[in-house]
Amino acid sequence: MSQPADDQAMHDPDKYAAVADNFVYVHRALRRDLARIIAGGEPLFASDFARFARILEKHSELEDVLFFPPLEQRAPGSTGASVDQHREIEGLVAALSSGSSTDTQSDLATLQQLLLSHLDEEEQHIMPAMMEHFEAAEIWALDGRIMEFCSPEFMQEMMPWWFTHIDAADRVCVAQNMTVGVPPDFLPILSQWIASGLDETQWNELVGQVPALAATA
Ligand SMILES: [Fe+2]
Ligand SMILES: [Fe+2]
Repeated sequence: MSQPADDQAMHDPDKYAAVADNFVYVHRALRRDLARIIAGGEPLFASDFARFARILEKHSELEDVLFFPPLEQRAPGSTGASVDQHREIEGLVAALSSGSSTDTQSDLATLQQLLLSHLDEEEQHIMPAMMEHFEAAEIWALDGRIMEFCSPEFMQEMMPWWFTHIDAADRVCVAQNMTVGVPPDFLPILSQWIASGLDETQWNELVGQVPALAATA
């Protein structure tokens, strides 16, 4: 993770918590899943790349339509590079997804290179800018609109994927953020989706630290 974000976090943990789900924990899962798919060769590419592509596409869309426009209003010029990188990454993902790539492993390596530098760029520049130009409550309000852009089918796929591809400490952070940021009547279904991605030991470990999840699942 980038140093500037850590520095900011020490100054304002509320703001850090508000941006961390989208700009830290989803990024970690994206990095880990793509590395796993590359390591797994053709079979894993065939079985798992489509899901990775759907989740990455939605993540970029949320940034493009939900987070970046208000940031661009308050900090003109801050999001242009990231938006350009989204288009470049989408082009490569489309080639890989459509089967028009002639060298899958080489294109995957290029995608990984582009994605890693893109995620770093957002963590080093976009995330600190969000914390500088918005109050924590404003970021939470944006975060609260994510569901407007996601179908239940997408969430059902994304939630277990997310919790599978982050470590136990990160799961606790994300789950805690959810119990605060998600409407109470939505928490039970969210808990079910999280549980479906974890084995019993992992789930018990998580609810031991975030009891609000257990009450609903
Ligand atoms: Fe991102
Ligand atoms: Fe992005």
